Amino acid sequence: MNTKKRVLTGDRPTGKLHLGHYVGSIKNRVELQEQYECYFFIADLHTLTTKPEKEHILSMRSHITEVVLDWLACGIDPQKSTIYLQSAIPEIYEMNLMFEMLVSINRLSGLPSLKEMAKHAHLSGESIPFGLIGYPVLQAADILMPQAHLVPVGKDNEAHIEIARDIARKFNQFYGDVFPLPEVLLSKVPTLMGTDGKGKMSKSAGNSILLSDDVKTVAKKVKSTFTDPNRIHANVPGTIEGNPIFIYHDAFNSDISQVEEFKKRYREGKISDVEVKEVLAEKINAFLDPIRQRRAYYENKKGFVESIIYEGTLKMRERAQATAKEMRAAMGLMGGWNKISRIARERGT
Ligand code: TRP
Repeated sequence: MNTKKRVLTGDRPTGKLHLGHYVGSIKNRVELQEQYECYFFIADLHTLTTKPEKEHILSMRSHITEVVLDWLACGIDPQKSTIYLQSAIPEIYEMNLMFEMLVSINRLSGLPSLKEMAKHAHLSGESIPFGLIGYPVLQAADILMPQAHLVPVGKDNEAHIEIARDIARKFNQFYGDVFPLPEVLLSKVPTLMGTDGKGKMSKSAGNSILLSDDVKTVAKKVKSTFTDPNRIHANVPGTIEGNPIFIYHDAFNSDISQVEEFKKRYREGKISDVEVKEVLAEKINAFLDPIRQRRAYYENKKGFVESIIYEGTLKMRERAQATAKEMRAAMGLMGGWNKISRIARERGT
């Protein structure tokens, strides 16, 4: 019997991933898959909670393959982990409905994370859809569907995992033990700062270095990265703390003694920003090189990424059917469902 604990986490398909995604979550996932039974999925339904229009749905298609391509390029291994598409699992919609009965509107509507999402999507009052309030319920369906034990997410998602846990607890109380209580696995690494030095790295803020950026683009982005604004000359003593070029050196330059030496000289005003940046661009490029190679390899295998998604999703559909069956049986809904399904099968409908 497989006794490995199950890990599940998902990403909304927002397009190509950047260095912040790597240090904040992807690196951790690549490690987790050695120890756990891992499920990584594309949360396309969650994207609908703020962007339900058809044009967004259509643009999501390429984003889905880009995200999975980035995952594979970073070392997420479809032999070890299950990769799937949320919207193609019918039972998710069903579980979502059952779980809606197990959490209060007050609990959901008070969540700062939802307010943040609404604000970001320019939604307020009347324009906030019911589905956005239900975002964490849908997330609970994701988590409980493969009966996951651990959910690696950032701090902003912590409250959602607590809700999933409470829903699982309530379900078990009402209907009997079906779901393990999922636990959050908080990412240890704080979010990576963007190249503008203002906030976290994000694609929409235009301050990101993509995992798929080429050598020249990386060099250009590093060159224009914000540093200590007081340093009008290389001989002005500089600040290391909160300075993106040193945050990046710490994250991507494995030559620790070189980083220490740069910091010392920077503080003393004995090194130029240009030199620190040139070496940084080299190091980031060296870090990205194998990722780029793997990305190109998978990109050139026509239909490969799609087949990974299809295979993973097919596997997941079976898993979802098993859990939904268990759920219905526990709830006492089994009777009607089984009978109708049998008649439908007999009639071939
Ligand atoms: N809410 C997550 C995000 O911020 C995406 C997500 C949806 C998720 N369902 C999940 C994460 C289940 C972990 C587990 O993008």
